[in-house]
Amino acid sequence: MNAFAQIAVTPDLSPLRRFVGDFAALLDETDDLGAILERGGTLLARLVERDDWLPDDYAQPHPERYQQYLLHCDSAERFSVVSFVWGPGQATPIHDHRVWGLVGVLRGAEKVQSFRHREHDGALVQHGATRDLLEAEVEPIDPREGDIHRVENAFADRTSISIHIYGGNIGAVERATYRASGEERPFISGYANTTLPNLWDLSRKA
Ligand code: FE2
Repeated sequence: MNAFAQIAVTPDLSPLRRFVGDFAALLDETDDLGAILERGGTLLARLVERDDWLPDDYAQPHPERYQQYLLHCDSAERFSVVSFVWGPGQATPIHDHRVWGLVGVLRGAEKVQSFRHREHDGALVQHGATRDLLEAEVEPIDPREGDIHRVENAFADRTSISIHIYGGNIGAVERATYRASGEERPFISGYANTTLPNLWDLSRKA
């Protein structure tokens, strides 16, 4: 955290606090994946329809690579919420998740390309067309349907930010990146930040 951040005004975090509370209640109620993705998608759509709550510290691009900032992790690691910050033109490698996920664009836009293993040799081939995910849109990641994809900032000249929620502590999940040949490389993403936004200081509200 830099000196500026210490004097920067913290935005009202109540939309994020409400989101994590609602999501925990949803997971208390059901473990049906279809219901989690559908009803969770509605919750995420509500979160990303306004762009006034993400603190600047968790919206900072890196000059060389995309950033994944942890915003919240459920105490039982049932879910985690991250901000993905894409500098101009930045992209992920081809990767999987191994847990369910939901992606909602807060600022800018992303391009998403899905991949599948080719049956006879296991090489990765594009599955469907590249999709544009625009501001305020939400897309599920459903491991039942295959969850290998590559994501990039749709813009070459500006930062884009998306909010993701995953069915685990995503920075600690053992998963993989892939070469085009289909060869897997073990991947644990970790997080770019060491401190989290304080959702629980309610004194300003009082
Ligand atoms: Fe992904």
